[in-house]
Amino acid sequence: MKFIVQGGLDKTGLHGTIRVPGDKSISHRSIMFGSLAEGTSNISGFLEGEDSLNTLRAFQAMGVTIDGPSDGKVTIQGVGMNGLSKPALALDVGNSGTSMRLLAGLLAGQKFDVELSGDASLSRRPMKRVTDPLSEMGAKITSAEGGKPPLKITGNQSLTGFSYQMPMASAQVKSCCLLAGMYAQGKTCVTEPAITRDHTERMLKAFGCDVEVNDSTACVTGPAKLTATDIDVPTDISSAAFFMVGASIADDSDIVLEHVGINPTRTGVINILKLMGADITTFNQIDVGGEPVADIRIKSAKLKGIHIPENLVPLAIDEFPVLFVAAACAEGQTIVTGAEELRVKESDRIQVMADGLKTLGVDARATEDGMIIQGGEIGAGTVNSHDDHRIAMAFAMASLCASGDIHIEDCDNVNTSFPGFAELAASCGLSIQVINE
Ligand code: S3P
Repeated sequence: MKFIVQGGLDKTGLHGTIRVPGDKSISHRSIMFGSLAEGTSNISGFLEGEDSLNTLRAFQAMGVTIDGPSDGKVTIQGVGMNGLSKPALALDVGNSGTSMRLLAGLLAGQKFDVELSGDASLSRRPMKRVTDPLSEMGAKITSAEGGKPPLKITGNQSLTGFSYQMPMASAQVKSCCLLAGMYAQGKTCVTEPAITRDHTERMLKAFGCDVEVNDSTACVTGPAKLTATDIDVPTDISSAAFFMVGASIADDSDIVLEHVGINPTRTGVINILKLMGADITTFNQIDVGGEPVADIRIKSAKLKGIHIPENLVPLAIDEFPVLFVAAACAEGQTIVTGAEELRVKESDRIQVMADGLKTLGVDARATEDGMIIQGGEIGAGTVNSHDDHRIAMAFAMASLCASGDIHIEDCDNVNTSFPGFAELAASCGLSIQVINE
């Protein structure tokens, strides 16, 4: 699939009131915890994207009865912590790093052997960051050369709780250790070097598991037990971010995004855009199952370049592709540092975005841990998303301040996190054509 987005003088701003799909991180966790709980959990607002569907299929393959998704509704008949059964085949989680890393943690504690595999992009991503701490707990896991997938997990190991100082700010690593910790004897504590998303901690509490959180350390005590609960998944701030940037950089925009998850460990994108001069207001704030949710209004604004504070980087880690686009349209220089994790996402998001922006005439220089971008106008051209959903959507929004059309190649993976992106974006004013090849 390819996108052609129209730049030039005829383009309009973004308008209307829209709802982006459900939060990917929360959707994954709702299936995992609902499956391991005792009783029936009803999920609403579930993301029907390929990544979270891969998690759902993995639990079905391990014998869990899951109905749906239908219109975002999923019903899970939980089997309890020790009720999963050995899948007939390797669990293929496609493009989803969250599925692989979180599943590695909870499968390390099962009685059966299991293999986790993924697509070409996931097969290039580092897994040593989870196999190292899991091995320390007593798990038996092998990976392919260089610590890459597939992961082969040998069951029936007895795990022991431990204290782990994470070398990188990663919610996936933190969650992996906590999930293994639920199967370990004693207490498992994970300390992170910077704040990362805390959906695991919040949702485990909602499922009745006693998670202790103190500053940057989270602990669980095993063996743990989960009790079924209903989860209303907010919409994904990472998907909303494309419209926040799009509406900011396009002239004459005024858009409202409904029911967006604004957990403070995810709102880095709002803080960064506000520092750049964006006009963003949140209202109608409510609490939904332990997660704060609000409506967000964004109007066009003249953005200015900034040095993005490093403490905001992990709180906006998935939003950098589109933040680079915001920087390319801003006045002055934007500097991103401390973002080396971007190099090991679905693609090397530093290199791929710098290359694409340069193709479009932007002065963008990749550095080891970030980028230096001289803002100004974006030109026309053809860029490749490298099969990375967020790169494809970021360049689609770039057309809103581009002097000509942008062709974006290899956009199929947009369906991993944002099914219906092109239709929704078109409905609020983006001139986007989808070419199915
Ligand atoms: C996620 C954590 C982040 C993020 C990913 C989802 C999660 O990864 O990039 O899209 O659901 O825990 P890291 O924790 O590896 O940074």
